Amino acid sequence: FGDGPLRGRKVVVSAGPTYEDIDPVRFIGNRSSGRMGFAIADAAREAGADVTLVAGPVALATPAGVARVDVRSARQMHDAVLAACDGSDIYIGAAAVGDYRPEQAAGQKLKKHDGAPLRLELTENPDILAAVAARPRPPFLVGFAAETHELARYAQDKLRRKGLDMIAANDVGDGRGFEVADNALVLYWRDGSVSLPRMPKTDLARQLVAHIAERFLSGHGH
Ligand code: C5P
Repeated sequence: FGDGPLRGRKVVVSAGPTYEDIDPVRFIGNRSSGRMGFAIADAAREAGADVTLVAGPVALATPAGVARVDVRSARQMHDAVLAACDGSDIYIGAAAVGDYRPEQAAGQKLKKHDGAPLRLELTENPDILAAVAARPRPPFLVGFAAETHELARYAQDKLRRKGLDMIAANDVGDGRGFEVADNALVLYWRDGSVSLPRMPKTDLARQLVAHIAERFLSGHGH
């Protein structure tokens, strides 16, 4: 596994969307390609870490040397991430977790009823980052904040509220960030921040992992 700054460290990365089934042929999902999370898993492995990648439904090849666990729903991702985080050093939550799911998936395909509206009752999904943060000895926690406005304020608020060690803020206004090869990030931690300019997600992931390693190794986590 080479001799990078994360040599011998256990890193867990979540990536991609979650799908919440409505019936056997329909689901509620979100616009996430998984590319950023997969690039982060690859960069962490490059930095010497032992990487587990928990992936929602995406059409991406597994990075070489990375252990992958495939999931579909937010609850499946919650269970897989908590299991993988046991004894891990760093958790990077890069998945776009669906906030809500249908109360119960229908067993049969829903049919139209003469123009009558269809009402779906939605239940809130568990917050995976919060669940990891609530563990007795949580890993160094990195979250993402995708916002369309007031990026700095929402990101810093999320950092404190979710008890994170670092947050990567992503400006997704005007079609930025999603389903594209380039991205830019602003990283915030308790007493600092750094702006990573627009570049390919693979380069951005390497820089993000370098900053995570630096903060983690300087003991500014737990
Ligand atoms: O609050 P918001 O959903 O914007 O927070 C985004 C961050 O929280 C991301 O890192 C995402 O992976 C994580 N998250 C989570 N579980 C949820 C929702 C979001 O871990 N149910």
